[in-house]
Amino acid sequence: MRGIPVLGLSRGRMPPMPDATARLEEVAIDLSDTESLRRWLVRDTLGEWVAGADQALLINNAGLLGPVGAPASHDLQIVTRTLAVNVVAPLLIAAAFARAAANVPDRRIVHLSSGAGRNAIAGWSVYCASKAALDHHARTVAADGVPGLRICSLAPGVVDTGMQEELRACSSRDFPLHAQFVDMKRKGALATPQSTANRFLDWLLGERFGSEPVGDLRDAR
Ligand SMILES: NC(=O)c1ccc[n+]([C@@H]2O[C@H](COP(=O)([O-])OP(=O)(O)OC[C@H]3O[C@@H](n4cnc5c(N)ncnc54)[C@H](OP(=O)(O)O)[C@@H]3O)[C@@H](O)[C@H]2O)c1
Repeated sequence: MRGIPVLGLSRGRMPPMPDATARLEEVAIDLSDTESLRRWLVRDTLGEWVAGADQALLINNAGLLGPVGAPASHDLQIVTRTLAVNVVAPLLIAAAFARAAANVPDRRIVHLSSGAGRNAIAGWSVYCASKAALDHHARTVAADGVPGLRICSLAPGVVDTGMQEELRACSSRDFPLHAQFVDMKRKGALATPQSTANRFLDWLLGERFGSEPVGDLRDAR
């Protein structure tokens, strides 16, 4: 990632980095397992990782679409897992990161949010609520005004990933905007993960990062 060493938390092996010279360390962790995550965070691997750095970046990317449909149809285990991955994990990691990197002069936190956190999308109540929680966490952390700590909750746009496949596989009965998403894919209107990642990194490393606590990558300059 542009020569920046990466400490990656994921369930499985991460794809190789495009920049073969960059350092990548992987930690196998299931972010829906809150207790394992908490135990890993208190070991302070994060503190060892950022020690002596001038800049530390936290990207909270993992997310689940969760149950689709009105609440009466929701599987309670899926609701629990979705909130653990989408809300509990990013807030725990943000707190541990802020503590671990307290001596790093430039600290930046990004939550991968969604337009769904700002607009009610029928059938997606858990996903919408989880992303709204990230947005408000970012607004509030920004209001704390801790020197050197910047944060943004960012909607990445509509990106051609597994999550888009998953939502196109949903029934239009549970998700009334289904046809709109199928149409966007058919018309080639989805951004590629590669172009989104490049735009995202330009924005993350830019001077304006954190000027607004809630943003949309499509508006980023
Ligand atoms: N794609 C879009 O159009 C879009 C739009 C708005 C917001 N977003 C947000 O962007 C972020 C990335 O989404 P995506 O489109 O890349 O979704 P995706 O294709 O479904 O990928 C989800 C990511 O979350 C990880 N993840 C899920 N459950 C996990 C768990 N229990 N422990 C650890 N990692 C877990 C997955 O890891 P594995 O590889 O292990 O499965 C994968 O890397 C999400 O926060 C999503 O809400 C996406």
